[in-house]
Amino acid sequence: MALWAGRFSKEVDETVNAFNSSIAFDARMYAHDIRGSIAHATMLGKCGIIDIAESQAIVEGLKGILADIDSGKLVFDPNAEDIHMFVEAELTARLGATGKRLHTARSRNDQVALDIRLYLRDAVAHIQALVRELMETLCTLAERHTETIMPGYTHLQRAQPITFAHHLLAYAQMLRRDYERLGDAADRMNECPLGSGALAGTTYPIDRHMTAALLGFDRPVANSLDGVSDRDFCVEIGCALSLLMTHLSRFSEEIILWCSWEFKFIELDDAYATGSSIMPQKKNPDVTELIRGKTGRVNGDLMTLLTMLKGLPLAYNKDMQEDKEAIFDALDNTELCLKTFIPMLATMRVIPQNMRAAAARGFINATDCADYLVKKGMPFRDAYKITGTLVARCIAEDKTLETLPLETYREMTDLFDEDVYEAISLETCVRGRSSFGGPSPEAVTKQLADLRAVIAAFEK
Ligand code: ARG
Repeated sequence: MALWAGRFSKEVDETVNAFNSSIAFDARMYAHDIRGSIAHATMLGKCGIIDIAESQAIVEGLKGILADIDSGKLVFDPNAEDIHMFVEAELTARLGATGKRLHTARSRNDQVALDIRLYLRDAVAHIQALVRELMETLCTLAERHTETIMPGYTHLQRAQPITFAHHLLAYAQMLRRDYERLGDAADRMNECPLGSGALAGTTYPIDRHMTAALLGFDRPVANSLDGVSDRDFCVEIGCALSLLMTHLSRFSEEIILWCSWEFKFIELDDAYATGSSIMPQKKNPDVTELIRGKTGRVNGDLMTLLTMLKGLPLAYNKDMQEDKEAIFDALDNTELCLKTFIPMLATMRVIPQNMRAAAARGFINATDCADYLVKKGMPFRDAYKITGTLVARCIAEDKTLETLPLETYREMTDLFDEDVYEAISLETCVRGRSSFGGPSPEAVTKQLADLRAVIAAFEK
C-alpha cells in the first residue's frame, strides 16, 4: 500500500508505479536526505512540535539507517517511489509510530529541494577540487616550458611566436574562472528551502533559521513557493559545467592536433592512448576525442534542465523530478573527464624541438620585422607593406626572413641593417613580448607566480 493510501480505493497501476519511481537515480542522495531529516527532527523536538524523546529516537534511528546503507547491510528497495519514501518507510519499520512523526511540518517538495541542494554542495566542491588539481598540473608543466618557443595561431595559421608555458596558462586562466563560477553558483544556492512545506509553509511553529543553521546554509529561502519550485541553481551549475567542459574540449582538440604527425608537438603516454584493430601503426587520442564528444552530452543536460523548467507554473510539478538525472549526468561525466585528463596531461611527452621547428616556418616574425622599421622611424603601414613584399619574395624563393640576404632587404629600404637578423630571431621576438600577460619567459614567470597564489587561496 502506498503512503497516501487513505485517499485511494485502488492500487496504483504497476506501470505507473515504475514510471513514477525515481529511486533508481535519487538513491545516491541517501546521506543528504538523512542529514536533512536529522536536522528537521532535531528542530521539531527543540520547538516542542514533537516530544523531545521521540525526536531523539528518530535521530538515532536515522543514524542507524545511514550506517546500515553505508555498510551495505540495508539495500534500496527498487519498488520504493523515491529515496524519501524509502528512508521514511524504513524508519517506521524500525521505530513504529514514532517514525511516522518525522514528516510532521514537512513535504517531499521541500525535502527534495533540500536534498538536491545538499548533494550539489558536495558535488560542486568535488569538481572544484579536480579543477584545482588540473590547474596545478598545468602550472607544473608550464614551469618547465617558460623558454619553449612555439607558434601562436589565429585562424589555425601561424601568427606570432609564444611560449608553450603561455599557451598552457591560457587554459589555467579559463579553469580559474570555471572554479570561481562553480563557487559563485554554490554560494547563491546556499539558502535552505526546508520549511517551505508543500508550497505554503506550515501552521506549526517551526524554526527555519535553526534548520538552515544546522545544515550549514546562510539563511532560509525567503519565499516558500520559490523554495520548492525553482531549480535555477541546477541550471547555473549545469551551465558552469558546460563551460568547464567547453574549455576541456577546446584543449582536447588542440591535443588531438598536437599529437598528429602534421604537428607532433607532443606524444601521449601509451597508457593514455589506444591502438587500432587493423592499422598497426596507429596511436589514437581517444581520451581527448571522448572529452570533446562528452561536452555535447553535458550541453544536452543543460538544455534538459532549461527546457524542463520553462513552462512550469508555480509551485512543485512532477516534471522537476527530471532535474536529477540531467544534473547527475553532467556531474558524473565532467568528473570522469577531469579524472582522465589530468594524468593524461601530466604524462604526455612534450617535443620542444618540433614546436621550435614549426615556429621557424610560417613567417611568425613578420610583425617584428615591421616593428624593426617602425623603431627606425618608418610609419607602421609602410613598414607592414614592405614586410609583406619581403614575405612574398621569401615564398617565391623558398627562403625565410632569417635566410633572406641583407641586399634583398636593402632593395626595399636602406633602414635595414645587419641588426635586422637579431631583431627577428624568434628568441628576441618572444623575449620582447614582455607586456603584462604576454608570452615572454619573464612575463609568464610572473603570471605563474600570481596563479600559484590564486590556487593557494582556493585551498583555504
Ligand atoms: N521524487 C520526487 C522528485 O524528485 C520527490 C518529490 C515528490 N513530490 C510530489 N509532490 N510528488 O521530485
